[in-house]
Amino acid sequence: MPECQLYISLAILFTILTQFVSSQKPSFTCGVKDSIHLHKFNFTELSSSDITIYDQSEGENITLRLCSPLSQTCAGSHDYSICLRKQGTEVGLGKFPPLLVNNHTSMFNFTGDLCSNSRNYTVLIVMKCDYTAIDTTSPQLIPKGKDDQCTTYFIWNTKWACNEAVKANCTVVDDRNNLYDLSSLTAYKNNYVVDIGGKGNLTMNINVCHSVIHESGSECYGTAGACLEVHSNDSSNPKYINYGEVNHPLTINNGNLEIVYTSGHLCKDETEDSLWTIITFICDPEATEHTVPEYKNNTSCKYEFVWKTSLACNKTYLKQNAAKCKVTNPRTKFTYNLEVLMNSDVTTNTSDGTQYKLQICGSLRDSKCPKGTGVCNTKDSISVGMANGNLMWQHGGPYLNYTNGAICENGQNHYTLIAFVCGAEGSTGSPIIVKKNTCSLIIHWYTSLACENKLTCVEKQTNLLPLIQTSKNYVAKGMDTEFHINICRPIVPTPGLACPPGSAVCQAVRTSEGQYTNETSLGFPDEKTVLLDNQNVILNYTQGSPCPENPQKNLSSSFKFSCNYNGDHGSPEFENYSNCHFSFIWKTNIVCGTLIGVWVPPCVVQDETHVNKVDLSLLYPKPVPRIVAGTGKNYSISICGGKDHCNGSAVCQGTNGYGTITNVMFDYDNKAIKLLYGNGSKCSNKVYTSELSLICNDSVGIDNGPKLLLDANCMASFEWHTKIACPSEVPVLKSGTSNDPVSTTETTPARESLWESDAAIQTWAIVSALFLVTVVLIAWFYMRNPRWCFDLRYRISAITASRNHSRVQYSRVNTTEEAHLLLDTSDPCGDGQIDSDDELLGV
Ligand SMILES: *[C@@H]1O[C@H](CO)[C@@H](O)[C@H](O)[C@H]1NC(C)=O
Ligand SMILES: *[C@@H]1O[C@H](CO)[C@@H](O)[C@H](O)[C@H]1NC(C)=O
Ligand SMILES: *[C@@H]1O[C@H](CO)[C@@H](O)[C@H](O)[C@H]1NC(C)=O
Ligand SMILES: *[C@@H]1O[C@H](CO)[C@@H](O)[C@H](O)[C@H]1NC(C)=O
Ligand SMILES: *[C@@H]1O[C@H](CO)[C@@H](O)[C@H](O)[C@H]1NC(C)=O
Ligand SMILES: *[C@@H]1O[C@H](CO)[C@@H](O)[C@H](O)[C@H]1NC(C)=O
Ligand SMILES: *[C@@H]1O[C@H](CO)[C@@H](O)[C@H](O)[C@H]1NC(C)=O
Ligand SMILES: *[C@@H]1O[C@H](CO)[C@@H](O)[C@H](O)[C@H]1NC(C)=O
Ligand SMILES: *[C@@H]1O[C@H](CO)[C@@H](O)[C@H](O)[C@H]1NC(C)=O
Ligand SMILES: *[C@@H]1O[C@H](CO)[C@@H](O)[C@H](O)[C@H]1NC(C)=O
Ligand SMILES: *[C@@H]1O[C@H](CO)[C@@H](O)[C@H](O)[C@H]1NC(C)=O
Ligand SMILES: *[C@@H]1O[C@H](CO)[C@@H](O)[C@H](O)[C@H]1NC(C)=O
Repeated sequence: MPECQLYISLAILFTILTQFVSSQKPSFTCGVKDSIHLHKFNFTELSSSDITIYDQSEGENITLRLCSPLSQTCAGSHDYSICLRKQGTEVGLGKFPPLLVNNHTSMFNFTGDLCSNSRNYTVLIVMKCDYTAIDTTSPQLIPKGKDDQCTTYFIWNTKWACNEAVKANCTVVDDRNNLYDLSSLTAYKNNYVVDIGGKGNLTMNINVCHSVIHESGSECYGTAGACLEVHSNDSSNPKYINYGEVNHPLTINNGNLEIVYTSGHLCKDETEDSLWTIITFICDPEATEHTVPEYKNNTSCKYEFVWKTSLACNKTYLKQNAAKCKVTNPRTKFTYNLEVLMNSDVTTNTSDGTQYKLQICGSLRDSKCPKGTGVCNTKDSISVGMANGNLMWQHGGPYLNYTNGAICENGQNHYTLIAFVCGAEGSTGSPIIVKKNTCSLIIHWYTSLACENKLTCVEKQTNLLPLIQTSKNYVAKGMDTEFHINICRPIVPTPGLACPPGSAVCQAVRTSEGQYTNETSLGFPDEKTVLLDNQNVILNYTQGSPCPENPQKNLSSSFKFSCNYNGDHGSPEFENYSNCHFSFIWKTNIVCGTLIGVWVPPCVVQDETHVNKVDLSLLYPKPVPRIVAGTGKNYSISICGGKDHCNGSAVCQGTNGYGTITNVMFDYDNKAIKLLYGNGSKCSNKVYTSELSLICNDSVGIDNGPKLLLDANCMASFEWHTKIACPSEVPVLKSGTSNDPVSTTETTPARESLWESDAAIQTWAIVSALFLVTVVLIAWFYMRNPRWCFDLRYRISAITASRNHSRVQYSRVNTTEEAHLLLDTSDPCGDGQIDSDDELLGV
């Protein structure tokens, strides 16, 4: 009896589920066949979940799923695969299913709601092969054109868009046992493209030890290593000619590294039967980064290319001829060139008076140290490193590592690190010994030659440039350590403080002897790091030393600047450390800027934050207007005068009123309060206006009297030095806690729709659960009679079996399992009783 009940319930559940699922999903194959090569592309892996892409330029989110409808509703419907969300509105950009075509490149074409003028939204997702894009990547949004707001383009770099590759051995050993490895030249997402003949109608696509990447512009049949694209004069489609398959390993021929690709297209020439390509690699020790093949010549059946690269040099030769004193930042491709520092011996002293002589990228000319020495301790004539020109790069700048100095106490050789740090404009600078360890020396050299780009330190109206230090770092204390800090620049070199060169924040421990140890970088002044967050300015430094708690992460730090009206430039204070991030706060007057104020009758001005309030009636111990003498005329000024004075104007000259209050400004940068008056009496074809600046001046007391600055063009300007314009000691601005009302209203609607869809799913689940329980209960009553049970089993078997047939291509594995379950249930209709309700619920 329990088995029967189990079996019946399973069968019913199965029936319901298949019906539900089949009613939900229109059939769509998440893959496509290559139009010529019959390769099958399968994009299923990319469609496992909804992906949201934030379009910063439009301030909108696009959520998409390639091969099924989104899991959330969009614009109230479950039909969309692509949804645009912006400020609470939802637009269906693409309905499921898309059109998937492969015309050399796989492309998904979605159509959505009406966009404009009887055009619907369309979304085109071009799938581009990238053998290295292995994990689930996300598509890249191509910015919309101004004239077409209805079409959205994405490019999705993924390995799922790649053909099967053919590879060849890319290493070879010559007869003198030198190993060469060209595998770093293999392209995994963009072929090398060589223009032939300069007319633009012939281009050769090449890859190294790997078949060319099949994409638009390189559509050769087969697994070519070289593919020629031929454009004819008329506008017909280009032709693609296979100039050789990847079928030979890298070889050495006449002392040169060589790759040949043979067995391409048929060649009409009688001497050879197929097209082929030969690439010769020539040693060029200076050609390290980003070299490309060059066209040499061709016959009717063969193309020849040469490729200059340091990878074709033997190690001995490379060492002797390495690019001297140059290095390229691999991320930005910026090349540092320190050649101008070469060829002169420089001396520098440590704080304890030891003198060192050194030469950049070359050996010392005049020293008592062994020949080839790069840094020499002149007192003992000990080499602390042999010279080399092998400039290297690390985050923060280029550096040299002079190794193999004299044997040291620890049995190893002395070495010296010379790191170059971005320094003042136009300076070649000089070396500073920041650390002298027993067996190594660390030298920092500040020079503008090491500057790649300097952080501007300016964002909108905020300018942190005045905070940059050039002679002494800011120092804050916390966590029993010291923080040496500069703003938007590397820290100022400090003897004894050997932080990773170029760091903007250096954390160090002070020993009881006052020495610095355990120097750690809390970040570098990279790229754009100043941002505005409500009323705070935030400066972030990232990519510091590895985080002790989580070595996968790097330490970072941020500075939150807040306005201190009454203060000076201020200095940083350590706030806290959490999650590999150090936070500092910095109260300073330089981020105060200008705030709008209001006039509060009878005679008070207040800034918009209401923290600064000034009673201007203090300027008028006696309620009489102040008189200012101009050339030939007198002005009477009565700030608090109200209606009684000159028809309401604060400034009056004769019968001309110079206007009533229109604006109050608190200019904290200049410590002044500006009163602007407008709508005065008529002045030729304009009206009189005026301006009065109350300027903070502690030394003059309350009243130094107003002065005329200018009277021209119906406008008069005055200034008045007074203590009352000085900002009172006030607390800092309210900090930018995220109670920004705008962002709240933006996100709420999106969340609501999410809840709606959740609610819909829940409703469905409850209804179906109730239904299931009812059916099972009925079945249970029915099955108390074994004969009825048998009968029922027979009927349900018939139904599910026929379903199995019609659903075979839908889910083969599941249905056969189900069929097994049906057949193997040995005694489904035994006369056992159901023991407890748990079994029912357990289904
Ligand atoms: C496509 O890939 C998925 C998962 O990677 C697999 O389940 C499915 O059978 C594949 N489809 C075809 C037609 O090969
Ligand atoms: C876009 O999505 C992100 C993360 O899901 C969310 O924080 C942000 O508010 C969304 N923006 C819009 C405009 O919907
Ligand atoms: C394939 O693309 C070419 C040009 O890129 C075009 O001329 C041709 O019509 C396309 N074929 C199909 C079937 O879309
Ligand atoms: C275009 O959008 C309208 C309105 O949403 C819709 O009714 C129509 O089916 C769409 N056209 C296509 C081709 O999808
Ligand atoms: C490639 O060829 C070299 C010798 O030319 C050989 O030592 C190496 O094992 C080969 N590598 C592979 C992966 O076959
Ligand atoms: C292609 O055009 C160029 C000039 O535009 C002409 O000289 C040449 O003969 C043309 N070639 C063919 C094959 O039509
Ligand atoms: C191509 O250049 C190579 C090397 O310069 C030369 O040996 C070969 O004869 C040239 N071939 C033609 C067809 O000019
Ligand atoms: C070089 O190749 C082009 C086209 O691939 C062909 O037209 C030309 O005749 C070839 N040159 C020689 C010398 O065969
Ligand atoms: C390295 O290459 C250079 C020039 O190509 C050659 O003169 C030298 O003999 C080679 N050295 C070794 C050890 O192979
Ligand atoms: C410099 O060379 C020494 C000695 O070979 C080595 O221990 C050290 O790690 C190197 N430092 C850097 C930054 O390359
Ligand atoms: C300095 O670093 C070492 C190892 O990196 C560590 O053992 C030591 O505790 C640190 N000293 C201080 C004072 O943090
Ligand atoms: C800057 O740091 C703050 C505080 O850790 C962080 O919330 C913010 O995301 C950071 N901004 C950038 C651009 O890294």
